[in-house]
Amino acid sequence: MPRKIIIDTDPGVDDTMAIFFALCSPELEVVGLTSIFGNVHTELATKNALRLLEIAGRTDIPVAAGAVDALTGPFEGPVPFVHGADGQGDIDLPDPAGQALDISAAQFIVEQLRAHPGQITLAPVGPLTNIALALRLEPRITEWVDEVVLMGGNALAPGNASPAGEANIRNDPEAADLVFGADWQVTMVGLDVTLRVHMTPEHIAEYATHGNAMSDHIVKVLPHYRNYFESVYEAKGIFVHDSSAIAYILDPTLFTLRRWPIRVGTQGLGRGKTWPATGGRILPPWEGRPLVNVCVDVDGERLVEMEAEVLRKA
Ligand code: RIB
Ligand code: CA
Repeated sequence: MPRKIIIDTDPGVDDTMAIFFALCSPELEVVGLTSIFGNVHTELATKNALRLLEIAGRTDIPVAAGAVDALTGPFEGPVPFVHGADGQGDIDLPDPAGQALDISAAQFIVEQLRAHPGQITLAPVGPLTNIALALRLEPRITEWVDEVVLMGGNALAPGNASPAGEANIRNDPEAADLVFGADWQVTMVGLDVTLRVHMTPEHIAEYATHGNAMSDHIVKVLPHYRNYFESVYEAKGIFVHDSSAIAYILDPTLFTLRRWPIRVGTQGLGRGKTWPATGGRILPPWEGRPLVNVCVDVDGERLVEMEAEVLRKA
């Protein structure tokens, strides 16, 4: 039986790749996409989620629109210099034909977890606001979820949205602190590993040979994103953020884990930093907090190959 997942997403170029990776993996059943601000505003994230499902020919999968602002303040704004103003590399996509459900992302998550206790993995690859709102709406979702596997955070690595914080966590640190503190199994696939998953120009070129609608879309949206990476990092190509969380769900043996409680910095320069309790002694802010699976190493080459193989067969 395929494993059911809900992808909470801010598409986003790397979100696009992660969504297609999941849709094309026979081991997974995507029961819904929920949208969130981050790379773009929520309204556009919702549109993009619908567009991506149309490109994939999977309009049977519902989309629920998420929160438009963080728990404690307004969304600080999109990042067109990374993902394009449209979140899809500025490629002038038509509007989607479909529409989102008339329930919120948080309601959708609660309803699905209630209906399928123990069967659904949450895969947030954007800011964690919807997940925190779902926890507030129905705290028993911690009992009903299978696992939470998120892309976000930086335990030992520096941040990417600031020297301290990773983008998804920095967009709503209060929500992230709630999610890391809830009584469920969270796995953090953060910058510690995603910056070690290198998709080279050769890997990217191979997608153009697949001859399917999803790989063709990836080829179109990647150049803008790739330019950003090549201007910031020394390597050519891109690093693989959101698809790494999907890869963990498919094959956790790709990763090396440490288990630490996590607190999230919410103030000043450290806002958005995920702090693992790495020392021997657990200090009061971390006391009583659950152990998070923190990915600290990865077989990046195998991961990139696995994703390409899945899309090649699509
Ligand atoms: O830091 C990487 C994360 O931020 C990814 O989820 C990417 O899509 C961006 O939103
Ligand atoms: Ca994302």
